[in-house]
Amino acid sequence: MSAMLKSVRGGDAPPRHFLELMDLEPAVLRRMLDLGARAKRGEIAGKPLAGKTIALIFEKPSTRTRVSFEVGIRQLGGDVVVLSSKDMQLGRGETPADTAKVLSRYVDAIMLRTDNVQKIRELAEHATVPVINGLTDVSHPCQLMADIMTFEEHLGPIAGQIVAWTGDGNNVAQSFIQAAARFGFTLRLATPPELAPPAELIAWARAQGAKVELTHDPVAAVRDARCVVTDTWVSMSDERDGRAESRHNLLAPYQLNAALLKQAAPDAIVMHCLPAHRGEEITDEVMDGPQSVVFDEAENRLHAQKGVLLWALGLA
Ligand code: CP
Ligand code: NVA
Repeated sequence: MSAMLKSVRGGDAPPRHFLELMDLEPAVLRRMLDLGARAKRGEIAGKPLAGKTIALIFEKPSTRTRVSFEVGIRQLGGDVVVLSSKDMQLGRGETPADTAKVLSRYVDAIMLRTDNVQKIRELAEHATVPVINGLTDVSHPCQLMADIMTFEEHLGPIAGQIVAWTGDGNNVAQSFIQAAARFGFTLRLATPPELAPPAELIAWARAQGAKVELTHDPVAAVRDARCVVTDTWVSMSDERDGRAESRHNLLAPYQLNAALLKQAAPDAIVMHCLPAHRGEEITDEVMDGPQSVVFDEAENRLHAQKGVLLWALGLA
């Protein structure tokens, strides 16, 4: 990179990537959440992203991530380039490393949604601008930032509280495990044995002092929890393995319905990252019921990601 471009991009300091919650200290994550809350309250002055352009790259469909990033960046005064990987050379074999080196010459940050976490790791290794994880096959940290914000708006500090997950041990569940370690809540996951989250991740979280409990019994997981969370039975990265039907059979007993929710604390909230498959992992009654905060949660993607962006770009 030329000296002039370096100075424009802030010198040789390593970029502040937002890849996994486990990579970041609790105080740093807290700072992002505080920034997001300030943005939500209208307390971020001016247009801090003026003159900045962010690339948003999608290898997979998206409603919330795409719109919340695009709108959030524009509200902060920045510009966006939204790209589908199938329209990029990345989609026909250009390496993430080369893509990173090129895009770092044009834009100030890159958000990637990918079905292979190795791609975002390679992108981040070679980018000289911040890289933000907009979902991989094994993680969804932006979602968790919104989820923590949502929990705390409704029920106060999450540290020491019990959160229950029922369903697939998928990418969102795996970010919940990382979040339990970083934000100090107890996480009880009920999954079928075949769809349990990776043992190494559980071991990592426990070594960090996190209280992560695994069970195959959704009632045991949900009992007295302050928050019950579920997600789709077939994630985007699972769509090609031809096992949708067997997943449905395995996951049917883990449905978040009114009977299961009754086992939680009386004031428990219900979260789901969305999109929901109503009548599968969650019933209409629960999704539209008084304990559901799923649309607050979706809204908070906008606010929480502003905190991530302001931190990543070193602007606050
Ligand atoms: N929750 C979430 O990331 O939604 P999208 O797939 O619509 O972006
Ligand atoms: N687990 C889901 C989350 C979608 C936001 C998926 O990966 O498809």
